[in-house]
Amino acid sequence: MEKKNIDWSALGFGYIQTDKRFVSNYKNGAWDEGVLTDDATVVISECAGVLQYSQSCFEGLKAYTTQDGHIVCFRPDLNASRMKDSCERLEMPVFPEDRWVQAVVDVVKANAAYVPPYGSGATLYIRPYMFGSSAVIGVKPAEEYQFRIFTTPVGPYFKGGAKPITIRVSDVDRAAPRGTGHIKAGLNYAMSLYNIVDAHNKGFDENMYLDPATRTKVEETGGANFLFVTKDNTVVTPKSSSILPSITRRSLLYVAKEYLGLKTEEREVYLDEVRDFAECGLCGTAAVISPVGKIVDHGKEICMPSGMNEMGPVTKKLYDTLTGIQMGSIEAPEGWIKVIE
Ligand code: PLP
Ligand code: COI
Repeated sequence: MEKKNIDWSALGFGYIQTDKRFVSNYKNGAWDEGVLTDDATVVISECAGVLQYSQSCFEGLKAYTTQDGHIVCFRPDLNASRMKDSCERLEMPVFPEDRWVQAVVDVVKANAAYVPPYGSGATLYIRPYMFGSSAVIGVKPAEEYQFRIFTTPVGPYFKGGAKPITIRVSDVDRAAPRGTGHIKAGLNYAMSLYNIVDAHNKGFDENMYLDPATRTKVEETGGANFLFVTKDNTVVTPKSSSILPSITRRSLLYVAKEYLGLKTEEREVYLDEVRDFAECGLCGTAAVISPVGKIVDHGKEICMPSGMNEMGPVTKKLYDTLTGIQMGSIEAPEGWIKVIE
């Protein structure tokens, strides 16, 4: 299979239309068998549930080319299961998890020419999503839904790749206690757009959201979980019921413990203690691990000892081990890698 003529190493995190996408429709209480189609457009009622009341959720995962030339995905079963949780919370029908993973495999196979080559620094981002497609005008769930998966080749989420970024402590909250912060609902991202534009306008790369009830604890950013490293090399991640259960973060905690022999803690992290950490990073599918060099809290700067030039040493080890597992140069734990072809 011949790869597309794309300058892989110049890619940012953007959308490039690829050849095929998966589409399945839910009607009369059942999902149809689904198809791969060339049609990249969606035609729905002007009164569709997604357009009126934002009934939508999504996932994000990646396909990688390994060192020995296979195409693989990283833990797609966990994305399928998280989308099930999102659907249940949003009164949407669950797309069966085994079919979900198979549909990811089929779409990636159909777009194999767009999977960036090993060593290019790019990957194929996979975006499964679901929305209420039938008309609703009273506030209630739609009766019909569409589940789709498209792919797009991407480079680093933050410009500059592995260069440490600067974030600010947000005045706006991301997710209410007992709200929808723990699922991947489109509405969580819509409400963050004002705040990310404002952060960018003021020279920050991202927002650090605090727990809305007390505003004393670190939650996450708009698109990634936090990971901290203490001065004695313990890896600490914030625990909260209103953050997204990041698959990358859960995998990194395992890698830290089982591959690197580090101590790990998943616990509440107070904003006040952030200045005592040695390293800070943002972790997620899109972010991988993006190092944070500086956190600005209303004019007060917290400068991480790891600095603004490169990742801290523990973050780097975690990054190298995780990406080594994803790209096949380090043996993966059982069940983490789904070989596509
Ligand atoms: N937190 C938020 C708000 C996200 O959107 C994402 C991205 O999916 C993550 C965390 C990271 O999750 P994952 O590692 O499963 O991609
Ligand atoms: C991902 O990491 O897959 C996400 O969905 C985050 C998004 C901000 C791009």
